[in-house]
Amino acid sequence: MSILIKNGRIITATDDYMADIYITGETIQVIGQGLNIPADRVIDASGALVMPGGIDPHVHLDMPFMGTYSSDNYETGTRAALFGGTTTVIDFILQTQGKSLQSALKEWKGRSDNNAVGDYSFHMAVTDFNEETKKEIRHFIEVEGITSFKTFMAYKGALMIDDRQMVGLMQEVKKLGGLINVHATNGDMIDFLIAKHRSEGKLAPIYHYLSQPEVTEAEASSRFVDMAEYTGCPGYIVHLTCEGALNAVRNATKRNQNIFVETCIQYLILDASLYEDNFEGAKWVMSPPLREKKDQATLWAGINQGLVKVVATDHCPFNWEQKLMGRDDFSKIPNGHPAIENRMELLFSEGVNKDKITLNRYVEVASTNAAKIFGMFPKKGTIAIGSDADIIILDPNETHTLSVKTHHMNVDYSGYEGWEVQGKIKTVLLRGKVVIDNNECKVEKGYGQFVKRKKVAGKM
Ligand code: URP
Ligand code: ZN
Ligand code: ZN
Repeated sequence: MSILIKNGRIITATDDYMADIYITGETIQVIGQGLNIPADRVIDASGALVMPGGIDPHVHLDMPFMGTYSSDNYETGTRAALFGGTTTVIDFILQTQGKSLQSALKEWKGRSDNNAVGDYSFHMAVTDFNEETKKEIRHFIEVEGITSFKTFMAYKGALMIDDRQMVGLMQEVKKLGGLINVHATNGDMIDFLIAKHRSEGKLAPIYHYLSQPEVTEAEASSRFVDMAEYTGCPGYIVHLTCEGALNAVRNATKRNQNIFVETCIQYLILDASLYEDNFEGAKWVMSPPLREKKDQATLWAGINQGLVKVVATDHCPFNWEQKLMGRDDFSKIPNGHPAIENRMELLFSEGVNKDKITLNRYVEVASTNAAKIFGMFPKKGTIAIGSDADIIILDPNETHTLSVKTHHMNVDYSGYEGWEVQGKIKTVLLRGKVVIDNNECKVEKGYGQFVKRKKVAGKM
């Protein structure tokens, strides 16, 4: 199968030019102006933007969490991602404390193998670092192609590791050429505040927000960057939300430390006023919680300063029935919200169209940087000869409205119901195949492939 995309405006992290793209098999073969190569299919991209497929390095599919499972599985989640222009996702395997990393990998493969529609990879979350798990790290990096290891500084008793384990893991991962991802919030402080609010009978969703003040994130981020500096291990802070935490990273840069920061689309465009004193706020119960308007300004600035490298989703959907598990107690509301399908269009509409970021920056934070940080570049994350033909064609003028009625995520509400979005992803290619066309998915489950990743450079 060969495809010729004609007359598009090609945007990468660095370039912006008019050209045609010729694809055969899974990769881009030729890029040039006025290409006249016979092809099985010709796509006219006049008036549209042609960009690399999105990469969302923070999703939770079919994940056992807080007594239930996130409601998108590999099929529904990666298909919804494709509809929204995200061609590759990185999911998190969670080690069960007391068990091996390998057994968790096996469990996740059981859910993902032959089920994904779009491409995917894994981070390995180490929730119990000991002499046995230490021996498993090399295999993950050198054989499995899983080069990033997630740590939690919160969720004590289930996922959290202490600083002793963190430093030990960092030393091992640094030695072997990997990277540490972190959920950086102070779990003990949060647990103290949760217990306090519960003992006072303060049980509504707003107390989820009030149990995780900015200081809990700033303190943990600062501690994490110090441990990363001490061990020399490359570090990546997931879902960073606020000024205090970003300032901890900014301070680290003064000593020439390279720490990668990810924020998520919701922290850029939603704020804590959604936690009204009723249960509706459960839709946005996630950790960390939504913050203030001043934090949104800090995050947009952080993107433009090159400090915030990635805009992900932390897609972790739960149906309303699942959210109701915490009807009488905010601490039992499954944490997470759906966005895998909405990220690329919302970031375009709210970021590029509202002049907060340039088109090149858009591609950088929605795709290229994640590919570089996580060892997938230039196979993924750019439009170049030899790269996978993962391409989106976006009409910058078409407007549409986000709604549960039209989305493809397996969740019965939208966190963005009624949002007017300018910019519509019309066509999506994944490894040389048109996978989304005219609002239809053209491939079945099993098309999505696991992406083995390279060792990470730890610098960009
Ligand atoms: O609320 C969230 N973020 N749920 C998913 C788990 C995590 O902490 O990333
Ligand atoms: Zn987290
Ligand atoms: Zn997460």
